[in-house]
Amino acid sequence: MSEVHSENDSRYLQALAERIRARRTTKLFLKRAVSKSLVRDAVEVARWAPNHHLTEPWHFYSFGKQTIAKSIELIRDIAAETKDEKLAEFKAESAAKIPGWLLVTCRKSGDELRQQEDYASCCCAIQNLTLYLSEAGVASKWTTGLITRDQRFFDLLDIDPDEEFVVGLIWYGYPKVLPTQTRKDVGEILTETE
Ligand SMILES: Cc1cc2nc3c(=O)[nH]c(=O)nc-3n(C[C@H](O)[C@H](O)[C@H](O)COP(=O)(O)O)c2cc1C
Repeated sequence: MSEVHSENDSRYLQALAERIRARRTTKLFLKRAVSKSLVRDAVEVARWAPNHHLTEPWHFYSFGKQTIAKSIELIRDIAAETKDEKLAEFKAESAAKIPGWLLVTCRKSGDELRQQEDYASCCCAIQNLTLYLSEAGVASKWTTGLITRDQRFFDLLDIDPDEEFVVGLIWYGYPKVLPTQTRKDVGEILTETE
């Protein structure tokens, strides 16, 4: 690739930077369904994440209607068990408004460094996925709520928790509203050495 950036390149760079800045964790979605083929394309792009030793440690579970319905019930049950019925009802109602559910897991490894690097790759894959969806107008929220650590959730998806762990449950859909966010100034987080 050329080191010299033409005016055109710089427009592409700005568009890429803007896409990265504009991806926002979103909680409220329109009812409109997201096509399966868009999600499949997002998974195809996700797996191009950097990945030491090319272990390809990720797995993506794209939920159908039955799995979503059972997951909502499980969210209700967990909240009732750990909090109270009122919150359980609220959580189930909120979950029922989420159009798209995608679970991302990472293969377990007995080697601590491999495990850490594989988890890092899965996180990069999720970023790829959510940026791709964002470019298509689909917003998302990466969650690691109680359901993602519940044995009943693994049973529902036929996941062996000795083999895989959850990196994130991705809720997605066309956004009702995109929240705003801030970050520290670059000067606070960047050290440039001699
Ligand atoms: C590993 C991970 C776990 C997260 N889990 C949750 C969660 O359980 N609930 C939630 O509301 N947001 C969760 N988030 C989203 C963050 O809260 C969100 O990224 C943060 O508020 C910054 O907002 P932004 O994504 O719009 O920049 C998670 C994000 C990451 C990376």
